[in-house]
Amino acid sequence: MQKRKIKDRIFWLGAVDWDRRLFDSLIPLPDGTSYNAYLIEGSEKTALLDTVDPPKADELMGQLEGVSRLDFLVSHHAEQDHSGSIPRVLERFPEAKVVATPKAKPMLIDLLKIPEDAFITVEDGEELSLGDKTLQFIHTPWVHWPETMVTYLKEDQTLFSCDFYGSHIAASDLYVTDQGRVYEAAKRYFAEIMMPFRNVIEKNIAKLKRHDIRMIAPSHGQIYDKPAWIQEAYREWVTGAPRNLVSLPFVSMHGSTSEMVDYFVSALVEKGVRVELFSLPVTDVGKLAMSLVDAATIVVGTPTVLAGPHPLAVYATFLANALRPKVKFISIIGSYGWGGKTVDTLAGIFF
Ligand code: FEO
Repeated sequence: MQKRKIKDRIFWLGAVDWDRRLFDSLIPLPDGTSYNAYLIEGSEKTALLDTVDPPKADELMGQLEGVSRLDFLVSHHAEQDHSGSIPRVLERFPEAKVVATPKAKPMLIDLLKIPEDAFITVEDGEELSLGDKTLQFIHTPWVHWPETMVTYLKEDQTLFSCDFYGSHIAASDLYVTDQGRVYEAAKRYFAEIMMPFRNVIEKNIAKLKRHDIRMIAPSHGQIYDKPAWIQEAYREWVTGAPRNLVSLPFVSMHGSTSEMVDYFVSALVEKGVRVELFSLPVTDVGKLAMSLVDAATIVVGTPTVLAGPHPLAVYATFLANALRPKVKFISIIGSYGWGGKTVDTLAGIFF
């Protein structure tokens, strides 16, 4: 895809990865994803914000043809889907300085062998002038790693948020056009990437409230030209009370656990409790993660196999625990033939 103009001398660059179906060898991507970079041409200096996943580096380098000079390469986040092509960009623009937080610098050196003298580190709130455009860097730890920051472009009231507010979605529309679809993708993204760091994200949201944000340009998915709804969605996901919803991942070998699950679900429904069921051999674990954003209760259903829980139940329990959801109640149901340590094993994984 060609570079695309967002505003006067602000461009989207990057790659739309229509075919990608798994991230971190863990996270399902039913809608693909994108790696967004942004080029900002000030009256005196030019900055590139982030790069792309290395397999897509050629696309980015093609979009940078015609750019005569790059003064700054802002690295919001050291994860390689955004930083991995920095070495390629520096080969083409050796004069560019890599702008990063003090925590990101050693990570980028370790991961990408970027020379130490290529860096400028920036403190929280520090500004960098491009002439008639000013970049303000805001440290936002744990969205998604401890070193992450975002950039606020003051004159255009635009927030370049990297993973924050991102969504794994491949689309040809630059801006959000189907809010329902993006809400779902952004919630999935939040559940799988951000939920474990909820408490810190709450502080980052509060910090950003000081800024008049008219547009949010993340590094995955589409740009929010009307960002209020995604900001409100994040507020709800981060601080909203859990709902009276039971999230129920289960696996059954010969139907016994399945019968228990059916009975249990009927009883809950009769009491007016909403239930979301996930049959683990076939479920999309991203859907389970999304359910955990809202659920007050998680119930794991498993038979006993080889003296312990079914491996799929172990996987789901480990994942649910790692995501640190807001759940208040946890239960385990299941069948067994001659005993075992199913309950002890699963209970030992939770929290
Ligand atoms: Fe999109 Fe945490 O990288």
